[in-house]
Amino acid sequence: MSHKIKTLSEYFQEYQKSIDQPEQFWGQIAENFRWKKPWDKVLSWDFEGPSVKWFENAKLNLTENIFERQLPNLGEKTAIIWEPNDPKEAERRISYSELYELTCQFSNALESQGIQKGDRVIIYMPMVPEAAIAMLACARVGAVHSVVFAGFSSTALADRINDCQAKMVLTSDGNFRGAKNIAVKAVVDEALERTDCIEKVIVYQRTKEEVTMKAGRDVWWHEVIENESRSHAAASLDAEDLLFILYTSGSTGKPKGVVHTTAGYMVYSHYSFSNVFQYNQDDVYWCTADVGWITGHSYIVYGPLLEGATTLMFEGVPTYPHAGRFWEIVDKYKVNQFYTAPTAIRALQAYGLEPLEPYSLDSLKVIGSVGEPINEEAWHWYHDHIGKGKCPLVDTWWQTETGGIMISPLAGITPNKPAHASLPLPGIQPIIVDAEGEELKGNNVEGNLCIKFPWPSILRTTYGDHKRCKETYFSAYPGLYFTGDGVKRDHDGYLRILGRVDDVINVSGHRMGTAEVENAINEHPKVIESAVVGYPHDIKGQGIYAYAICDMEDNTQEELILQIKDTVRKIIGPIAKPDAVQIVPGLPKTRSGKIMRRILRKVASRDISNMGDTSTLLNPEIVDQIIKGAGL
Ligand code: PRX
Repeated sequence: MSHKIKTLSEYFQEYQKSIDQPEQFWGQIAENFRWKKPWDKVLSWDFEGPSVKWFENAKLNLTENIFERQLPNLGEKTAIIWEPNDPKEAERRISYSELYELTCQFSNALESQGIQKGDRVIIYMPMVPEAAIAMLACARVGAVHSVVFAGFSSTALADRINDCQAKMVLTSDGNFRGAKNIAVKAVVDEALERTDCIEKVIVYQRTKEEVTMKAGRDVWWHEVIENESRSHAAASLDAEDLLFILYTSGSTGKPKGVVHTTAGYMVYSHYSFSNVFQYNQDDVYWCTADVGWITGHSYIVYGPLLEGATTLMFEGVPTYPHAGRFWEIVDKYKVNQFYTAPTAIRALQAYGLEPLEPYSLDSLKVIGSVGEPINEEAWHWYHDHIGKGKCPLVDTWWQTETGGIMISPLAGITPNKPAHASLPLPGIQPIIVDAEGEELKGNNVEGNLCIKFPWPSILRTTYGDHKRCKETYFSAYPGLYFTGDGVKRDHDGYLRILGRVDDVINVSGHRMGTAEVENAINEHPKVIESAVVGYPHDIKGQGIYAYAICDMEDNTQEELILQIKDTVRKIIGPIAKPDAVQIVPGLPKTRSGKIMRRILRKVASRDISNMGDTSTLLNPEIVDQIIKGAGL
């Protein structure tokens, strides 16, 4: 498709146009898509409500833009290459025409099993092509998918099912992940004991282990598709009909369901994919994320497929069966664009250069980073040893809520600057503000990152709770979307993301709300109060450090620490398990009862050189006790 920027001067021109005439800019881009009915108005918005509508009153189906629009040119081109967890198992290659047929067939199955437009469907599946087919089939029939990362616990899954009142769960018998085999169906069964809205569970057979199938509720994937036709008339959806809900953590309360709608998300996930990665028609593109996260939605499934790209899906983990697995896959499929997270890079960097030796990595043209700030050391290692100094490195900043990449170099076009997400994409208007909301203009400034104008894939609401959306993103600085991140604009005008400025921890590129982890810890019967903070961690970026006041009557500290970690694992999932737990006699509190987290962060970081002003503490003596307890 056109609208691919090719030079830096073109980028600046397009950027200016997108600011001066946003409606014309996006309207022209949207004309490349297939619409059942054109829009009346490109954009209506206010950030007070907030209310944002793109391509108002247009009708379309996103999957027609992947299939019907592109099949005449792409029919036999490979859409998805699937690499299994076990390298000895055969890979799969699915062409665009096969993917179309499989999507149609599963769309028919969804409808036969009672799914109608607007119903919510939970996808709790391994990284197999069927996960993508499930998403596409939902989009085709107009159902709203909500993918839940298959590493989340049954409690976390049940919370999400209940929050969106889903009607169906799509899952598998089990998951192969590295050396482990995870009994996914059993987790679903446990979750469903705490919900009453699920009518059907469709189970994809992956590991062939024995599972319990509840009569009348649970059906096998291969059985429900058996007699279904491989053609399906795509539902006509409104531009603003919900495409999906994706749950993400914030600084308060339970995870919220970020809502993305059809047309704007389609236009922006495609535009950003095409421009950031500079994909060319014969390229093989690989994003290592899981479809359970926004990166998997936008840059494994929707963006690449809307571009007609060959997108690689990998079921396993970077270190199984050996630490060179990623590089083996790059060589095996001659991957041209490779997109991963800094945490994976740091983990692999720790193995040294030996695992790289057998592989040429010659095919790579572009390498990318996402999910957390990339430190300069990891940036250089990635650039020098994986990109061999010749591949542009795109450090892409964005969020679940933004739906697509917001700030990033365009590969080979924007000059690279280590650890800088660099410049906004056309259509994106970042603004840096101080604590009072005053704009910090010019270069060499540091403050809070906000966006002052809507882009097509901005979240529309948080599911079932619009007030929460307003409070979380549009209230801190009225009239602006607040990202929760700190940022610096350097002397060249390049942006460097500094990390979260709220109570969100970024662990291995995954967002965890401190309140959410605290709530889980507090479920332990011996815990009286807890406080969780992040601290710098060599591999994960940030680690989770928990302080807990406990009733110590019948347990040793060691026992309690293990039990607390296990409680969090059970309630949220392994990704939220604290790296460190310190049992403390009290927490530093101000006279108004607020925990002074600054002190807890310093102790967790093992940096007690300057503890700042502690005179407003109700219990200043606790600081020394905590420091001592941490062995400092
Ligand atoms: O803090 C930023 C960090 O990840 C947060 C968004 O997390 P999530 O919604 O899970 O989406 C992750 C994948 C898009 C942001 O608020 N973040 C993401 N990308 C970067 C980043 N921080 C620095 N540099 C990045 N490239």
